[in-house]
Amino acid sequence: MTSGFSTIAAAVVILLYITLAQGTDCSALASAGNCSFYDCLHTKFNCNGKQYPLRRGKRYCQKYIDESSCFTTAGQAWITNVRRCLMQSIVNSALYSNANTDCGEFEAFAVASRPQCYTDNGFCTDIFLSPNCQNLNCIQDKIYNDNKSWDRSSLNQIKTTTASCPSQIATFLSDAPQCDRPDTSLVSVIQNYLDCTARAFDFIILLDASGSVGS
Ligand SMILES: *[C@@H]1O[C@H](CO)[C@@H](O)[C@H](O)[C@H]1NC(C)=O
Ligand SMILES: *[C@@H]1O[C@H](CO)[C@@H](O)[C@H](O)[C@H]1NC(C)=O
Repeated sequence: MTSGFSTIAAAVVILLYITLAQGTDCSALASAGNCSFYDCLHTKFNCNGKQYPLRRGKRYCQKYIDESSCFTTAGQAWITNVRRCLMQSIVNSALYSNANTDCGEFEAFAVASRPQCYTDNGFCTDIFLSPNCQNLNCIQDKIYNDNKSWDRSSLNQIKTTTASCPSQIATFLSDAPQCDRPDTSLVSVIQNYLDCTARAFDFIILLDASGSVGS
């Protein structure tokens, strides 16, 4: 009797555990922009520790929080809002609503959702343009400061996202030289990138007709 009861009890507990894990709802954590969202995602999709939720999502979520004092006040607000946006993009995605999603798919999705989360939350005004390039320097020196492939590709994405800020580019190009950073700095790399992009528009085709040589 006793052993039969414990077997049933154990089975119920296991079943309940499985049901809870599958039905885990991470959306409240996403709405709160709480970094524990990534622990929740990790559990929900049976990820391993080397996959996006813990290795990238949680790590950089926490890194931005830990280093937020480096940023301007507007930069800190951007960090908070982007954090929530990235989590909510995942919650609203088809990946999240499919219980069979392979955890490995979250990385590419998260990378792809960054540019819009960045620009929707004031990247062009508050990050791209900040006094003495403060916020761009913080991103380089405090967030993506490892020179490993993830950090390099993330900095590169910041660089290309600046092309989505057409009305701020001229101001950036005139302010950036005063930031006085070495050639390898993010600010200089963005400056070269935009300068080069801008030069593409210096090519002009001029058509004229001359009366003295006929048509
Ligand atoms: C984030 O969520 C966790 C788990 O629910 C909770 O323990 C923690 O206090 C929350 N953190 C913040 C900053 O609200
Ligand atoms: C960063 O890593 C790349 C490739 O591994 C290397 O070429 C480059 O010199 C490194 N830069 C710095 C600043 O260490």
